[in-house]
Amino acid sequence: MNVLVTAGPTREPIDPVRYLTNRSSGKMGYALASAFAARGHHVLLVSGPTILEVPEAVDFLRIETAAEMHAAVEQSISRQQIVICAAAVADYRPAMVAAQKIKKHDESLILELVRTVDILGSIRQPMGFTGKLIGFAAETERLEEHAREKLLGKGCDLIIANDVSQPGIGFDANENKVLLVYRDHSVSLPQSSKSHLAEELANIILNI
Ligand code: PMT
Repeated sequence: MNVLVTAGPTREPIDPVRYLTNRSSGKMGYALASAFAARGHHVLLVSGPTILEVPEAVDFLRIETAAEMHAAVEQSISRQQIVICAAAVADYRPAMVAAQKIKKHDESLILELVRTVDILGSIRQPMGFTGKLIGFAAETERLEEHAREKLLGKGCDLIIANDVSQPGIGFDANENKVLLVYRDHSVSLPQSSKSHLAEELANIILNI
């Protein structure tokens, strides 16, 4: 099967030397890409900036911004059977990117932010994807409720929800603990390394 995985953070530029980003390391998405490639599937990994090595036997596209990630997904969507969005995409970007480094003239500085494109939310429509669509949900409260809203709102077959307020899991950790949220039920998986979890998740996703 052809599998597309998004991973890592995006960087939204403020000026030539500064950007908005988040704490995603890419570990969860890269582990998933590896798990599918190890099972003989053809994987395209679309990744924001990370320090991780590109997994073996995976096609790799490095992007910086949400808009670039969206363009990469849109360009390859017609070839995919499974899409997994593990990236932590910035929800907002600066409305204007300063051409020169912003100088510290004033005591305060107000940045106007505007919404970025919702990549997962545009995969069913307008992209028209009909394969298996898996999203993540990074939540700090009401994990299952927020995850189910995302599942229904974005037309996913499964949302993999993690509580990113818990120490030792989620962003930049080596381990994760997730709740699998389907339309009519949910299943909790025990905490384990992201690589072990990715093996389990690959088997689960292939069986949906
Ligand atoms: O990278 P690691 O350090 O290993 O950490 C893993 C992780 C915590 C980043 C990962 O497990 C995770 O939860 N990824 C999703 C992070 C996130 O942005 O969640 P969200 O609830 O804000 O977004 C919901 C879904 O929409 C996600 O599938 C996200 O990829 C997608 N999204 C969000 C915003 C946007 N503009 N476009 C999107 O596609």
